[in-house]
Amino acid sequence: MPQKPKTHLIILAAGNGTRMASEHPKVMHKIASLPMLGHVLKAAQSLSDQSTSLIDTTLVLAPAMKKVAEFAQNYLPSVRIAYQTKQLGTAHAVSSALQDMTFDDGETVVVLFGDTPLIQATTLSKVTALLKNNAKTGVVVVGMTPQDPKAYGRLVCDNAGRFLKIIEFKHASDAEKSISFCNSGVMAFKADCLQKVLPKIKEQSLNGEYYLTDAIELAPSYHFEVHAIEVPAEEVEGVNTRVELAQAEKRYQTRRRQEALMLGCTMIAPETVYFAHDTVIDSDVMIEPNVFFGPQVHVKSHVTLKAFSHIEGAVLEENATVGPFARLRPGTIIGENARIGNFVEVKNTTFAEGAKANHLSYVGDATVGAKANIGAGTIMCNYDGYQKHKTTIEEGAFIGSNSCLVAPVSVGKNAIVGAGSILTKNVAKDALAVARAPRKTFEGKAKKMHDLKSKEKVA
Ligand code: UD1
Ligand code: MG
Repeated sequence: MPQKPKTHLIILAAGNGTRMASEHPKVMHKIASLPMLGHVLKAAQSLSDQSTSLIDTTLVLAPAMKKVAEFAQNYLPSVRIAYQTKQLGTAHAVSSALQDMTFDDGETVVVLFGDTPLIQATTLSKVTALLKNNAKTGVVVVGMTPQDPKAYGRLVCDNAGRFLKIIEFKHASDAEKSISFCNSGVMAFKADCLQKVLPKIKEQSLNGEYYLTDAIELAPSYHFEVHAIEVPAEEVEGVNTRVELAQAEKRYQTRRRQEALMLGCTMIAPETVYFAHDTVIDSDVMIEPNVFFGPQVHVKSHVTLKAFSHIEGAVLEENATVGPFARLRPGTIIGENARIGNFVEVKNTTFAEGAKANHLSYVGDATVGAKANIGAGTIMCNYDGYQKHKTTIEEGAFIGSNSCLVAPVSVGKNAIVGAGSILTKNVAKDALAVARAPRKTFEGKAKKMHDLKSKEKVA
């Protein structure tokens, strides 16, 4: 069977991002704990997963952006990196990507921006389908009508509604600035149209840049039609400042909460729950207000997450209960029916089925056996200032309140550790260990103290 024509995605991310006022490249700023670029690469990957034709992805970076290249290649190993030596505008950036590319008949090129992180694969497949199904169409632009059209490029149409050109805000007349239909930056081209038009784009005298948006006015002279489609602005608004980054985070979270609700998660106040890009919530999970998820969390069915809990790098098995005010750090597994209560911090620890730490504890680098109970105020002293050490608490063990377990140390099956113990040696199976200073009692001494001190007391 003949191969379907390829789709080439070109992601532009070489810009300086000066409006972010940051030491870090703009596209490495995170939304839902993932760099913006990761979100765009994710859309590229899911387009590739859904598509019947081959997709290749090229990322355009500035030569100094080695860390961005490393991130991208880790995230999407098939990505090709092209370097734009000088940041001379979006058309120039596309030319840099095209340098080592060859095209077969009928192929398409979709240009998207690293600073438009919430783009969906469905939009990318919609524009490629439009191009493929319309022989005369050379360019499809993804437009939007944002509430605040800010400094976006404006899509200019004639009286008959024919799409004529994109005017950049800084070059627009007052009448053009009043247009509400804006350029999202996503543009799909027939490869032969792009190859003809790109070299004809002229340098802007205002700033020495080459604008990809100028392709719209040029394409008809090569007998290509240009079209625009509209998608909701929530999906394609760009991020140029930290204010816009916060707005994009808000839009992402709104979308994610909606998805979680639709998939069977109950949230009392969804607007106060923050997801990471990869949070997995199974059905019938209950999330109380003000819960925050960092990366790599899987919450299985019938888990209850109580208010004000912070969770990252953790698996919560079925029917577990966590919080309120719990902190789960990377490497945590909370077993079925296990309970983690208020002001408990857990790190790199496995709680087996039905184990409990209900109040005020630090449990780090440990394994806690089934049905073991960790009393209030227990601390795993896992760090000696140089190395981390492990604590093992076996099945059914009971750790009395306010104990310190100085690792490496273990407590055997069904053993009991008396409250207030400082445990430096292992406790055997079924043993009772009490490791605290012996009590001294001085009969009548309290009364003597009261008599003496009350005379000294200043009124
Ligand atoms: C661009 C569009 C504008 C659109 C807006 C949508 C142009 C000329 N303008 O403006 O019509 O409304 O996006 O968000 O296309 N980049 C490079 N190399 C460069 C310059 C930019 O790779 O030399 C990359 C940037 O890293 C960024 C993207 O291209 O990811 C867009 O550049 P940016 O400077 O943010 O353009 P806008 O002013 O937002
Ligand atoms: Mg931008």
